[in-house]
Amino acid sequence: MSKLLVRKDLQDQLRSNVGDMIKQIESTDLKVVVYMEHTEQSPRVLPKVIKFKQVLPLLAKLADEGQVEEGVAKVMFYSPSTGRSRGLTPNMMAGFQYIKPGMSTKPHSHNMASIYIVVKGEGYSVIDGREFRWEQGDVFVVPANSEHSHTNTGTEEVILFDVTDSGLLENMGILEFRESE
Ligand SMILES: [Fe+2]
Repeated sequence: MSKLLVRKDLQDQLRSNVGDMIKQIESTDLKVVVYMEHTEQSPRVLPKVIKFKQVLPLLAKLADEGQVEEGVAKVMFYSPSTGRSRGLTPNMMAGFQYIKPGMSTKPHSHNMASIYIVVKGEGYSVIDGREFRWEQGDVFVVPANSEHSHTNTGTEEVILFDVTDSGLLENMGILEFRESE
Protein backbone atom coordinates (compact mmCIF):
# COMPACT_ATOMS: atom_id res chain seq x y z
CA MET A 1 0.00 0.00 0.00
CA SER A 2 1.23 3.47 -0.78
CA LYS A 3 0.36 6.60 1.09
CA LEU A 4 -0.92 9.74 -0.65
CA LEU A 5 1.51 12.56 0.13
CA VAL A 6 0.22 15.91 1.23
CA ARG A 7 1.65 18.52 -1.07
CA LYS A 8 3.77 21.10 0.68
CA ASP A 9 4.89 24.55 -0.34
CA LEU A 10 8.51 24.91 0.76
CA GLN A 11 9.41 27.50 -1.87
CA ASP A 12 9.91 30.48 0.43
CA GLN A 13 11.96 28.46 2.90
CA LEU A 14 14.16 26.84 0.26
CA ARG A 15 14.66 29.97 -1.79
CA SER A 16 15.84 32.05 1.14
CA ASN A 17 19.54 31.08 0.80
CA VAL A 18 19.70 30.82 -2.98
CA GLY A 19 17.35 33.63 -3.98
CA ASP A 20 20.05 35.71 -5.69
CA MET A 21 21.18 32.77 -7.84
CA ILE A 22 17.60 31.99 -8.83
CA LYS A 23 16.90 35.59 -9.77
CA GLN A 24 19.68 35.41 -12.34
CA ILE A 25 18.01 32.43 -13.99
CA GLU A 26 14.42 33.65 -13.83
CA SER A 27 12.77 35.98 -16.32
CA THR A 28 9.15 36.99 -16.97
CA ASP A 29 8.59 33.70 -18.81
CA LEU A 30 10.80 31.37 -16.76
CA LYS A 31 10.40 30.47 -13.11
CA VAL A 32 12.34 28.03 -10.96
CA VAL A 33 10.68 25.50 -8.65
CA VAL A 34 13.20 24.61 -5.97
CA TYR A 35 11.36 21.72 -4.43
CA MET A 36 9.86 19.13 -6.74
CA GLU A 37 7.03 18.13 -4.48
CA HIS A 38 5.37 21.48 -4.61
CA THR A 39 2.56 21.94 -7.02
CA GLU A 40 -0.52 23.65 -5.84
CA GLN A 41 -3.46 21.31 -5.70
CA SER A 42 -6.12 22.48 -8.14
CA PRO A 43 -9.42 23.55 -6.65
CA ARG A 44 -12.07 20.98 -7.38
CA VAL A 45 -14.89 21.44 -9.87
CA LEU A 46 -18.13 21.48 -7.91
CA PRO A 47 -21.34 19.73 -8.96
CA LYS A 48 -23.93 22.13 -10.30
CA VAL A 49 -27.13 22.57 -12.30
CA ILE A 50 -27.38 25.19 -15.03
CA LYS A 51 -30.98 26.38 -15.26
CA PHE A 52 -32.22 26.47 -18.83
CA LYS A 53 -35.00 28.86 -17.79
CA GLN A 54 -32.35 31.40 -16.81
CA VAL A 55 -30.12 30.86 -19.84
CA LEU A 56 -32.87 31.08 -22.47
CA PRO A 57 -33.70 34.81 -22.00
CA LEU A 58 -29.97 35.60 -22.03
CA LEU A 59 -29.52 33.77 -25.34
CA ALA A 60 -32.58 35.49 -26.83
CA LYS A 61 -31.30 38.94 -25.85
CA LEU A 62 -27.82 38.24 -27.19
CA ALA A 63 -29.28 36.94 -30.47
CA ASP A 64 -31.47 40.07 -30.75
CA GLU A 65 -28.42 42.25 -30.33
CA GLY A 66 -26.53 40.05 -32.84
CA GLN A 67 -23.19 41.61 -31.99
CA VAL A 68 -21.12 38.58 -32.95
CA GLU A 69 -23.28 37.03 -35.68
CA GLU A 70 -26.68 38.24 -36.90
CA GLY A 71 -29.51 36.27 -35.27
CA VAL A 72 -27.12 33.91 -33.52
CA ALA A 73 -25.88 33.72 -29.93
CA LYS A 74 -23.64 31.38 -28.04
CA VAL A 75 -23.12 31.10 -24.30
CA MET A 76 -20.51 28.82 -22.76
CA PHE A 77 -19.78 27.95 -19.18
CA TYR A 78 -16.66 27.39 -17.14
CA SER A 79 -15.63 26.75 -13.59
CA PRO A 80 -13.12 29.31 -12.25
CA SER A 81 -11.28 26.33 -10.78
CA THR A 82 -10.29 25.14 -14.27
CA GLY A 83 -8.36 28.33 -14.97
CA ARG A 84 -7.32 28.96 -18.53
CA SER A 85 -8.83 25.76 -19.83
CA ARG A 86 -12.13 27.63 -19.50
CA GLY A 87 -14.29 24.54 -19.24
CA LEU A 88 -16.94 23.18 -16.98
CA THR A 89 -14.37 20.52 -16.13
CA PRO A 90 -10.64 20.81 -16.86
CA ASN A 91 -11.15 19.00 -20.19
CA MET A 92 -14.67 19.78 -21.34
CA MET A 93 -16.45 22.94 -22.40
CA ALA A 94 -20.23 23.07 -22.70
CA GLY A 95 -22.54 25.70 -24.08
CA PHE A 96 -25.83 26.65 -25.68
CA GLN A 97 -26.22 28.01 -29.17
CA TYR A 98 -29.29 29.98 -30.27
CA ILE A 99 -30.25 30.49 -33.91
CA LYS A 100 -33.22 32.61 -35.01
CA PRO A 101 -35.57 31.29 -37.74
CA GLY A 102 -33.99 31.49 -41.18
CA MET A 103 -30.53 32.28 -39.79
CA SER A 104 -27.27 30.32 -40.03
CA THR A 105 -24.00 30.29 -38.15
CA LYS A 106 -20.84 31.25 -40.04
CA PRO A 107 -18.94 28.24 -41.43
CA HIS A 108 -15.81 27.57 -39.39
CA SER A 109 -13.68 24.75 -38.02
CA HIS A 110 -11.61 24.03 -34.93
CA ASN A 111 -9.46 21.18 -33.72
CA MET A 112 -11.81 20.41 -30.84
CA ALA A 113 -14.57 17.89 -31.51
CA SER A 114 -18.17 18.66 -30.51
CA ILE A 115 -21.21 16.57 -29.65
CA TYR A 116 -24.52 18.43 -29.96
CA ILE A 117 -28.02 17.76 -28.74
CA VAL A 118 -30.91 19.63 -30.33
CA VAL A 119 -32.76 21.09 -27.36
CA LYS A 120 -35.36 22.85 -29.49
CA GLY A 121 -36.25 23.48 -33.12
CA GLU A 122 -35.36 21.99 -36.47
CA GLY A 123 -32.79 22.59 -39.14
CA TYR A 124 -29.61 21.19 -40.57
CA SER A 125 -25.86 21.35 -40.26
CA VAL A 126 -23.41 21.31 -43.14
CA ILE A 127 -20.40 19.30 -41.98
CA ASP A 128 -17.49 18.94 -44.41
CA GLY A 129 -19.86 19.73 -47.29
CA ARG A 130 -22.57 17.21 -46.35
CA GLU A 131 -25.99 18.25 -45.09
CA PHE A 132 -27.32 16.60 -41.92
CA ARG A 133 -30.92 17.38 -40.96
CA TRP A 134 -31.98 17.34 -37.31
CA GLU A 135 -34.90 18.07 -35.02
CA GLN A 136 -35.55 18.34 -31.30
CA GLY A 137 -33.92 15.52 -29.32
CA ASP A 138 -31.45 14.51 -32.03
CA VAL A 139 -27.75 14.24 -31.33
CA PHE A 140 -25.08 14.99 -33.92
CA VAL A 141 -21.31 14.98 -33.99
CA VAL A 142 -18.90 17.48 -35.50
CA PRO A 143 -15.47 15.82 -35.66
CA ALA A 144 -12.28 17.80 -35.03
CA ASN A 145 -11.20 20.04 -37.95
CA SER A 146 -14.49 19.54 -39.83
CA GLU A 147 -15.88 22.72 -41.35
CA HIS A 148 -19.42 23.22 -40.09
CA SER A 149 -22.37 25.60 -39.96
CA HIS A 150 -25.87 25.26 -38.52
CA THR A 151 -29.11 26.56 -40.07
CA ASN A 152 -32.56 27.04 -38.57
CA THR A 153 -35.27 26.01 -41.08
CA GLY A 154 -38.19 26.23 -38.64
CA THR A 155 -40.48 29.01 -37.51
CA GLU A 156 -39.22 29.07 -33.90
CA GLU A 157 -35.76 29.49 -32.47
CA VAL A 158 -33.23 26.64 -32.60
CA ILE A 159 -31.40 25.87 -29.39
CA LEU A 160 -28.42 23.52 -29.48
CA PHE A 161 -26.39 22.32 -26.53
CA ASP A 162 -22.89 21.10 -27.16
CA VAL A 163 -19.98 19.65 -25.25
CA THR A 164 -16.47 19.89 -26.66
CA ASP A 165 -13.00 18.77 -25.63
CA SER A 166 -11.64 22.29 -26.08
CA GLY A 167 -10.41 22.41 -22.48
CA LEU A 168 -8.09 19.49 -23.16
CA LEU A 169 -6.61 21.19 -26.23
CA GLU A 170 -6.42 24.54 -24.45
CA ASN A 171 -4.51 22.89 -21.61
CA MET A 172 -2.00 21.58 -24.13
CA GLY A 173 -1.75 25.00 -25.78
CA ILE A 174 -2.85 23.70 -29.20
CA LEU A 175 -6.47 24.90 -29.50
CA GLU A 176 -7.13 26.45 -32.93
CA PHE A 177 -10.15 28.03 -34.62
CA ARG A 178 -10.42 28.67 -38.33
CA GLU A 179 -12.98 30.85 -40.09
CA SER A 180 -13.87 29.77 -43.59
CA GLU A 181 -12.99 32.26 -46.36
FE1 LIG B 1 -17.96 25.24 -34.04
